[in-house]
Amino acid sequence: MRAIRVMPELLVSQIAAGEVVERPASVLKELLENSLDAGATELQVTLDAGGVKRVQVDDDGGGVAQGDLGLALARHATSKIGSLEELEAVATLGFRGEALASIAAVARVELVSRARDAAHAWSVAAEGGAPREPRPAARAPGTTVSVADLYFNTPARRKFLRTEATEFGHCDEAFRRVALARPDLAFTLRHNGRVSVHLKPQSLEARAAALLGDGFAAASVPVDAQAGPLRLRGLAGAPQAARNRADAQYFFVNGRYVRDRLLAHAVREAYRDTLHGERQPAFVLRLELDPRAVDVNVHPAKTEVRFRDARGVHQFVFHALQRALAPSAADAPVSYASVSAPGPAIQAALAMREPVMDYRPAAAPLPASQKAPPLGYALAQLHGVYILAQNEAGLVLVDMHAAHERILMEKMKLGLDAGGIERQSLLVPAVFRAQALDVATAEENRAALETLGLELSVAGPNELAVRAAPALLAGGDVPALARSLLAELREFGAAQVLAARQNELLATLACHAAVRANRALSVPEMNALLREMEETERSGSCNHGRPTWYQLTLGDLDKLFLRGR
Ligand SMILES: Nc1ncnc2c1ncn2[C@@H]1O[C@H](COP(=O)(O)OP(=O)(O)O)[C@@H](O)[C@H]1O
Ligand SMILES: [Mg+2]
Repeated sequence: MRAIRVMPELLVSQIAAGEVVERPASVLKELLENSLDAGATELQVTLDAGGVKRVQVDDDGGGVAQGDLGLALARHATSKIGSLEELEAVATLGFRGEALASIAAVARVELVSRARDAAHAWSVAAEGGAPREPRPAARAPGTTVSVADLYFNTPARRKFLRTEATEFGHCDEAFRRVALARPDLAFTLRHNGRVSVHLKPQSLEARAAALLGDGFAAASVPVDAQAGPLRLRGLAGAPQAARNRADAQYFFVNGRYVRDRLLAHAVREAYRDTLHGERQPAFVLRLELDPRAVDVNVHPAKTEVRFRDARGVHQFVFHALQRALAPSAADAPVSYASVSAPGPAIQAALAMREPVMDYRPAAAPLPASQKAPPLGYALAQLHGVYILAQNEAGLVLVDMHAAHERILMEKMKLGLDAGGIERQSLLVPAVFRAQALDVATAEENRAALETLGLELSVAGPNELAVRAAPALLAGGDVPALARSLLAELREFGAAQVLAARQNELLATLACHAAVRANRALSVPEMNALLREMEETERSGSCNHGRPTWYQLTLGDLDKLFLRGR
């Protein structure tokens, strides 16, 4: 063993570069974000050989003062925050002060910048190490950062670069993300000397049409919803704009492109009634909220975020999107009934018109012998979605999918609390294709999966077999369930999934198992569901906070028909 030594600065930066500078596209992302933070209105991207030879961004932003030039390339040097308080409220895209230093550790970097009030520009260059002395240079106010020969001094990493076309594809995607986040700015993208995209400042609709195609623009609905400090705006693709791949899904949080499972789940749920099967929705959505309510310092690349009120954000996004996708349902007068129970705070904030009803026993009790249960007896099923039932007070309407989902979730929660969800062996194992990583995840997480009611075995290098599934959902789409649980485990790890993410997890399970709309239920099945609702805690609202049932009293119906008493 060697003695312990403090690493030289360059080695620290090269190690850090592994996280920040994965490929040319990550360089491009960092440079574009710096230009946005500098208040640029016009950004020009120049790429050579997919960005491997050169990634360059020119902007007309505020520039760097001469005295700061050397620091811009130094590690942990930033002009954006100076204290923990500022970190917690950070409104800029950058703040870690490590991107340029990391990039400079593994590439040849030149920074030419002219501050607005400076007489001329200055240039500073670094090649895998400390920057050289700044020299006077010529350019208009703004900044050019040029990054050449990525990984020239770290051959092991260079081997991970793919073909020029692949690297260009990733750069193009990084460019689109920024261009969609800021339709108010002008962008140009050049590759190998040819202009491949040119965008002038425009509306989001026009920007989306330019980058995602006219098809998307024509088949999307505007979203604009606000609830207290939360605001969601953007364009949600209608089912006609759905795709086979999830390649047109852009979610921005305070201007930052993110991939977040909580948000993805809220979106998926909102689309659930309109989008079938494996079709992927297309959307460009921008969530804005108080920067203090979201932690962006989760990972150096900052595509993950954590919300302080994760549940509130989920609810808000889900409802806002669902209403945008089905305006008619949301605008319809849902409430004729006298509603007394105020919903949870978030519903008040959303000014939801659908109230969450408390369970209230009917007013006039029938003689004991005929006493009807609180939710009454089923009469019929309406359009495969609602159960109509009669109780003492009048008519009860039940959203059968929402109610079933809630019941399943509560049952599984009880199972999990008691040590594990009850399993049922499948007579014929359900075999499905899986990626090598899924196979590995299944093997590593055998115990966690069993706690969740799933028993998987490896059926081949690219195949898994489900041998047992949660008893409550053995009849459902078991492979789809297994796939989403594996994805969850892969992303968050077993400990997280079973503890902090338990509710999300149970919601996923329940969602896979609950009766789908348009399934005909027999009257006894409907009555069984009503009885289970009465016994289930929190059955008044579904897992997403929507009400599961609604009472229309005879009085309400009389009023509806202007029937005097
Ligand atoms: N295009 C630019 N225009 C103006 N200043 C820039 C630009 N790029 C980088 N800088 C300056 O260099 C600093 C370091 O950049 P970077 O390493 O990306 O860290 P961070 O963005 O986290 O502050 C920034 O804080 C900023 O002051
Ligand atoms: Mg930065």
